[in-house]
Amino acid sequence: MTQSGDHRPIGIFDSGIGGLTVAQAIQQALPHERLLYFGDNANVPYGAKTNVEILRLSRGITRALLERDCKLIVIACNTASAAALKPLRAELPEVTFVGMEPAVKPAAEHTRTGVVGVIATVATVQGEVFTSIVERFAQDVKVIKQACPGLVLQIEAGEYATPKTEAMLRGWLEPMVAAGIDALVLGCTHYPFVRPLIERIVGPQVRVIDPAPAIARRVEHVLRGTGALAGDDRSGGMHCFTSGVPEFFRGVLQHLGMTDAHVGQGHWAGNELTLSYTSPRI
Ligand code: DGL
Repeated sequence: MTQSGDHRPIGIFDSGIGGLTVAQAIQQALPHERLLYFGDNANVPYGAKTNVEILRLSRGITRALLERDCKLIVIACNTASAAALKPLRAELPEVTFVGMEPAVKPAAEHTRTGVVGVIATVATVQGEVFTSIVERFAQDVKVIKQACPGLVLQIEAGEYATPKTEAMLRGWLEPMVAAGIDALVLGCTHYPFVRPLIERIVGPQVRVIDPAPAIARRVEHVLRGTGALAGDDRSGGMHCFTSGVPEFFRGVLQHLGMTDAHVGQGHWAGNELTLSYTSPRI
């Protein structure tokens, strides 16, 4: 048993509920850690915003999480990672960040057909980070990238399996299957909410890759490397904040079976975000 350790929380954020899929993987891998999650539901979707705007929001969120004494910041959003991770690391060199990037490498290693697919937001597929990942990890593989505008909002609306969501997904995925993909990367942390529907459309011959467990392993590796893991004599837990409606957020947590979390309110005032512990346990 590791006594004591560093019991400051891990800060995690996303444009909305998507990063909860990452938080859940971190909670499963590191049950003794305390998690502070912020979902910027008032500003979702980030995928349709400019990099300047995404950086402004990510900076405000990072500062609010650091004020709550977070020992590590996980940007549980591919879009915010692509736009803000590099500048935030330069601005805050003393802070440890873990970001997301589309899991092109495992897809390229898995493929037998030589064709892999990536679905993500418009901002992610158009960004320089995406181009550089493909250049680094998928030189001998054909990568079909597909932006899915509107899908994040469908998921935020709880439309995980409605005919409209299915029609949207079929429009993007069926051409990729016809082009021979045998691996599909979920390049947005919202998309695991519709994974059952995606798997039904692409069929069993296509491996669907969600990077959340790999991100959880990365968080563990980084904390272990800096001696900042919480002791296993401590109990973990999660406190969420949303700039949207806390009742809505509680419903999503219930859907994910994360019923042990608190939900508080986040308020934006210009560039400043304040997090207040207002609500009781769900
Ligand atoms: N979960 C975010 C991502 O991983 C969604 C971005 C958005 O709000 O459009 O990219």
